[in-house]
Order: sequence, then structure tokens, then C-alpha cells
Amino acid sequence: MHLTREEKEEAIRWAEDPSWVEREDYCEDTDYMDCVRDIIDSPVFQSMDNYMQHGDTSCKAHCIKVSYMGYCICRKMGWDYAEVARAGLLHDLFLYDWHTHAKETGEHFHGFTHPRTALNNAVKYFDLTEKEKDMILRHMWPLTPIPPKSREGMVIIYSDKFCGLIETMARIKRWILFGFGKKSAA
Ligand SMILES: [Fe+2]
Ligand SMILES: [Fe+2]
Repeated sequence: MHLTREEKEEAIRWAEDPSWVEREDYCEDTDYMDCVRDIIDSPVFQSMDNYMQHGDTSCKAHCIKVSYMGYCICRKMGWDYAEVARAGLLHDLFLYDWHTHAKETGEHFHGFTHPRTALNNAVKYFDLTEKEKDMILRHMWPLTPIPPKSREGMVIIYSDKFCGLIETMARIKRWILFGFGKKSAA
């Protein structure tokens, strides 16, 4: 998919900005909510607010970003936007703090294992299509060796990498602008 320079800059600003997720602006998109309302309203999905993902972005906020970005891309391309929206919300439903997980459990391969954990949790709580399951299980490709079977699965991978990178960079930017400044002044 080709993006103009303006579209790329707009996408970066959008991914950097946590405020639209905090304000729950996505709830005003009724077509999007028709695809995902059961997931968004569920306690298990909401519980991802308790776990941090990249930088200071929670797993819940990260998953909403990946889901909504995937949904917008697939709508624009005329692809299956409902399944991408749903799988995007559930792709990181691993339900633990990965920063302390290795120390607490001795399990050091979160990057490789969390897609399976997320899928196991997702099927416990939601009815998923085979395509949605595949998108969740394969979302860490190429770190994990098998790619997703669908183009929508590739959209999840792209949206996940894009949002993850921008969320991490935004944290570093804030640290340089505010954290470092505070330390120097002290
Ligand atoms: Fe992930
Ligand atoms: Fe992710």
C-alpha cells in the first residue's frame, strides 16, 4: 500500500497520540463498534489496562490502536475489516506484565510464546473464526517462523510493528523532553 508523505506523517502523529484512546473516540465510529463491541465491553479485554506494553502505553491502548489502524487500512483496501478489527484487539491478550514475567516464571521467551498464550485466552472468552485465530497466532512473524495465511494477517503485523515502534519512540521523546530536563534542573 502506498502512502504519501503527508499520510505517513499523519499516521505517526495518530499513533503517538494517546488522547483519542483515552477519550474513547473510537466508540463514536459505529461501524467499527458493530464489529468489536462484545470484545471492548468484556471485563477480560478491559483488564489489559492493568498491563503495560510499549513505553507507557497499556496493552489495552496498544491493542485498540492496532485494531483501529488495521480496520482503517482494510476498509480503504476493500478487505475484510471486521476480522482484522477483532483479531487486532485480541492479538496481545496474554494477560501478564511481560516486564516481570521472566523473573516471576523463569519463562524467557515472551516474544515467541505470547501469540499462543493470547490465542488460548482469546478462544476461552470469544467465538473466533479460523482466520482470526491465525492472525493472532502468527502476528509476530518473522520472529516466529510461520507467516499468517491472509493479507489481513499481514495488515495486523504491519499495524503492530508500526504502533509498537511509535509508542516506544514517543516514550523516549517524552523522557528526553521532560524527564531529562527535570533531572538536569534538580
Ligand atoms: Fe504481540
Ligand atoms: Fe502488539
